[in-house]
Amino acid sequence: MKDSIDVKSSSGSYKVSVGRSIFKQAVQQIKQTHSFKECFLFVDENVWIYHQEQITDAFHQAGYTFQYQVIPEGEQSKTVSQWKKLVDYLLRSGVRRNTPLFAIGGGVTGDLSGFVASATMRGIPLVHIPTTLLAMVDSSVGGKTGVNHKTGKNLIGSFYQPLEVVADLDFLETLPSREWQNGLSEILKYGAIRDKQIIERSTFFLEEDRTPARHPELTQLVLDCAQIKARVVEKDEFEAGTRAHLNFGHTFAHAMEKAADFSKLSHGEAVYLGMLAAIHLSNLTGTGSALDDTPLRKFRNLYSFKITGESLNISALLQTMKRDKKVVDDNYRFILLHDWQQPAVVTVTNDDLIEKAWLTIRKELS
Ligand SMILES: NC(=O)c1ccc[n+]([C@@H]2O[C@H](COP(=O)([O-])OP(=O)(O)OC[C@H]3O[C@@H](n4cnc5c(N)ncnc54)[C@H](O)[C@@H]3O)[C@@H](O)[C@H]2O)c1
Repeated sequence: MKDSIDVKSSSGSYKVSVGRSIFKQAVQQIKQTHSFKECFLFVDENVWIYHQEQITDAFHQAGYTFQYQVIPEGEQSKTVSQWKKLVDYLLRSGVRRNTPLFAIGGGVTGDLSGFVASATMRGIPLVHIPTTLLAMVDSSVGGKTGVNHKTGKNLIGSFYQPLEVVADLDFLETLPSREWQNGLSEILKYGAIRDKQIIERSTFFLEEDRTPARHPELTQLVLDCAQIKARVVEKDEFEAGTRAHLNFGHTFAHAMEKAADFSKLSHGEAVYLGMLAAIHLSNLTGTGSALDDTPLRKFRNLYSFKITGESLNISALLQTMKRDKKVVDDNYRFILLHDWQQPAVVTVTNDDLIEKAWLTIRKELS
């Protein structure tokens, strides 16, 4: 099964294909359509361990000559020094303006490679092959690229749209269980801000008897989420307004992740908690009225937190939130809900309300 959507952007439109066992054929089609003979692959370390043969076969069979780099796994690869190393590598290896770069991995590989592609020779063609659920439903669509700075996440980067995105669900067969939560949290986010069916359709993640990678509903769900992201970013490519709705739960989440040193709490766990906190803050600020968090709470058992609420103190969280890119004029800016599927950008001036919302969900952390 294969299906695709088109994403319009200021630099042209691109296709996002989602399906099972579509990778090999997609590489062949890209080769035929764009007639590049050579290409570069930047591949996530773990993806290379599990899928090296499949990847190299696909590029050989398509008739490509390729050179590759393995990207060390994890957030620590999203640095200026790693970015510089990869730009150096491409330039020393004879990259030309039209040589495509295939980014094969999760959001880390995609964000880093995208930033490399956008800067090298002022932009070389980029193809995203997302291999995590999060990258399939979120990071590979929309053109945000970048690396982290010691003062915060994703503070250095660019908007750079890919030539194409190919999400082959076969890659997910090797995805560790903790990584599924990262994608699920973003899926639930789309449900909360756009389409309540998405939350209901995600309940198959609660089934214990089979891996979600093989669930028949997964392909359509991934495609529909990529579609939601596509429609949002098409309307607001450079985040001047409604694209910020995609940050629902993320102001709290980024602060929690930072306070937990980016190690004791995964992004997905933090986003899940952040969405619950945002629902409570919606009620406390009067943005929403008596919103019930049950639709998200159903998924609580899928998250096992390894950190205690006491270890994340509110003053550290508030301080981090202040430094967030989303802060305007020193006030905290949150994405809250008027109602389910009715997000709004809300400036919150009263720290006490933020603290109350945080205290309500802190007990989730045992
Ligand atoms: N650009 C955007 O719009 C955007 C949106 C959301 C998140 N992000 C960024 O995405 C990053 C997170 O992405 P992620 O959750 O994909 O993390 P990730 O890229 O770090 O991958 C998670 C882990 O899964 C491993 N992995 C990847 N694919 C695998 C596979 N098929 N089988 C086995 N292991 C596999 C990786 O080695 C890594 O250990 C963050 O840096 C975040 O800032 C970007």
